[in-house]
Amino acid sequence: MNGKLTVVGTGMTAISQLTREAEHCLFTADKVFYLLTDPHTEGYVKQLNASAECLKRHYEHGSGKPRLWAYQDMVETLLAPVRQGQSVCAAFYGHPGVFVYPSHEAIVQARREGHEAKMLPGISAEDMMVADLGIDPALPGLQTYEATGFVLLKPTIDARIPLVLWQIGVVGLLTPEAHPSRSNLGALTEILLRSYPSNHQVVLYQASAYENIAPVLHVFALRDLARQDINALSTLYVPPGQHADPDPSRAELLGVRLADLSLTHTQGGARVPGQAYGITHPEKPGWVTAAQGCGAASAEFAAG
Ligand SMILES: C[S@@+](CC[C@H](N)C(=O)[O-])C[C@H]1O[C@@H](n2cnc3c(N)ncnc32)[C@H](O)[C@@H]1O
Repeated sequence: MNGKLTVVGTGMTAISQLTREAEHCLFTADKVFYLLTDPHTEGYVKQLNASAECLKRHYEHGSGKPRLWAYQDMVETLLAPVRQGQSVCAAFYGHPGVFVYPSHEAIVQARREGHEAKMLPGISAEDMMVADLGIDPALPGLQTYEATGFVLLKPTIDARIPLVLWQIGVVGLLTPEAHPSRSNLGALTEILLRSYPSNHQVVLYQASAYENIAPVLHVFALRDLARQDINALSTLYVPPGQHADPDPSRAELLGVRLADLSLTHTQGGARVPGQAYGITHPEKPGWVTAAQGCGAASAEFAAG
């Protein structure tokens, strides 16, 4: 029997970032599953659909079961009613495809078995970070990694480009009940110190689930990372350690003159953790000047 699986994101703030399409899916599904972090969204999902069932039980705290096993159990739970021909809506907080293994895996398996399956996007922690820290991934770019993968895969770090490390609270930990490991955080610090000075100011970020409560932005020196109060919802933002200057030979390749470009580096006030550039190009209509705002300038650059 052909069933249907739709994976939706509920965003980061309580209820208010739930999209209309996600809400419609939750309302009309035969069966709803969810993995959420705030009780208000959970209550709302249950209100939308009485079948709603929490997936947290798969973590089985205290058993030492690897997180990967819990994820595989979640996939099986999502697929069971799909295999019986039901329409299933699975809701995950944030964006359901951003650092969520079971959502991608369930879609792949459902499609492989001939069922209809798709994902509806949501607002992720990184989207909130862009808004709260005043950073723009357009310029000079953005490096974003899961903390354990970052340590294991040894990606080349470009200290000119901002760096985001997710799941810093569980770096090197494979079971769900684990508390942050100071020694693993120390190892991560050592790795970062090869690319940044020890007094480099970094930010522990936690988006707020409520519009009237400010996000957590804790700024400290990189060398002190292992001493911080880090939890499961913490994300680390590492601002650039060096300026990103455009290469004149590359400008030539594109047929633009560096003299016609002006890069503005803003760092101060609320923007301390972030770095943004404005580009002016007086001869190109539609391009904005740095004075009109760095975010806007970067957006124009990306679109162009
Ligand atoms: C399993 S991932 C889920 C991410 C989620 N799907 C999203 O779209 O943001 C969990 C990680 O997301 C980040 N995260 C979750 N909630 C957050 C919050 N309120 N503020 C900042 N980062 C958060 C943390 O890095 C955390 O370890």
